Amino acid sequence: MDIKKYFDDITKEFIEELTKVKTYEELSVVRIKYLSKKGVVPMLMLKIKEVSDKKSFGEAYNKIKNFVELTLNEKQKVYETEKLKQELEKEKIDISLPGSSLKRGMMNPYYKIIREIEDIFVGMGYQVEDGPEVENDKFNFELLNIPSDHPARDMQDSLYIDSNILLRTHTSPVQARVMQKAKGKPIKVICPGKVYRRDDDDMTHSHQFGQVEGLVIDKNINMANLKATLELFIKSMFGEKREIRLRSSYFPFTEPSVEVDISCINCGGKGCSMCKNTGWIEILGAGMVNPKVLTMNGYDADEYSGFAFGIGIERVAMLRYGIDDIRRIYQNDIRFLSNFNKICED
Ligand code: DAH
Repeated sequence: MDIKKYFDDITKEFIEELTKVKTYEELSVVRIKYLSKKGVVPMLMLKIKEVSDKKSFGEAYNKIKNFVELTLNEKQKVYETEKLKQELEKEKIDISLPGSSLKRGMMNPYYKIIREIEDIFVGMGYQVEDGPEVENDKFNFELLNIPSDHPARDMQDSLYIDSNILLRTHTSPVQARVMQKAKGKPIKVICPGKVYRRDDDDMTHSHQFGQVEGLVIDKNINMANLKATLELFIKSMFGEKREIRLRSSYFPFTEPSVEVDISCINCGGKGCSMCKNTGWIEILGAGMVNPKVLTMNGYDADEYSGFAFGIGIERVAMLRYGIDDIRRIYQNDIRFLSNFNKICED
């Protein structure tokens, strides 16, 4: 047997068959024919029994096996690349087509106004503090000079978790927390946050709303400092023309206490339905920190004095943006929020 010729003939036959192949599937048929278990190439090995020069046969066998495998693999790669190219071509995205645009989100006026308030006070050197919304009786009442038999508790009837733990009724407990942390050192903070009361919801009330607490403690702090601070805040928020008026009031944690009004944004003080013909709109509560509160929270009331204030966040937002119903702030109706598109752009 002429081993060389025998193998050359098979190689020639293989090459001829391969030249006829036009598709990936046809190539698979040739692969099966030559390389499967009972294919042409493995079957060649059976012939070795019939030849005497087994070494040459073995070498020729390995040569043809490698050749067939390599050639088929190369050809397969060409088809695969081609196939991938076609698929990519098919999946091409036409970026010149106009896409469907996503609507831009709008910031809720509640958060927008907090940012504005923070900006004003940070500009005056205040730090922004945070406090827990789930408070205990001690911080929410006791340390603010509201003992358990105090009638002021009735006005702030709240949502209790147990007899000692409640959802805070105001941001004032942060005053006590900040004082205890500062351990007798000067303080200048604001604290925005949510508070809860057992109120029925209507146009101007909600069982959950926001307040910004303010607290300044240092030596020689007096009522004039409080008034100047609030005046600056009001004018920055509502415009230079706004006047403020301090009315005597009562809060257990401040002494003296005041209620602060601003001249009506709608009529400028002449009287209209918005200010119920008084020319003034109530905007916040404030006062000089009660010496009892200073002492309870670790300050020497002879050396230190301070002022505090509590601003209603929604009230400021409603006046600033002309919102008629507090509930709109919480509903997140996109038609309502879109009105703040311009105002709310940061
Ligand atoms: N905590 C009071 C409330 O929720 C508001 C308040 C009044 C806060 C006077 C103060 C203040 O810091 O000095 O009704």
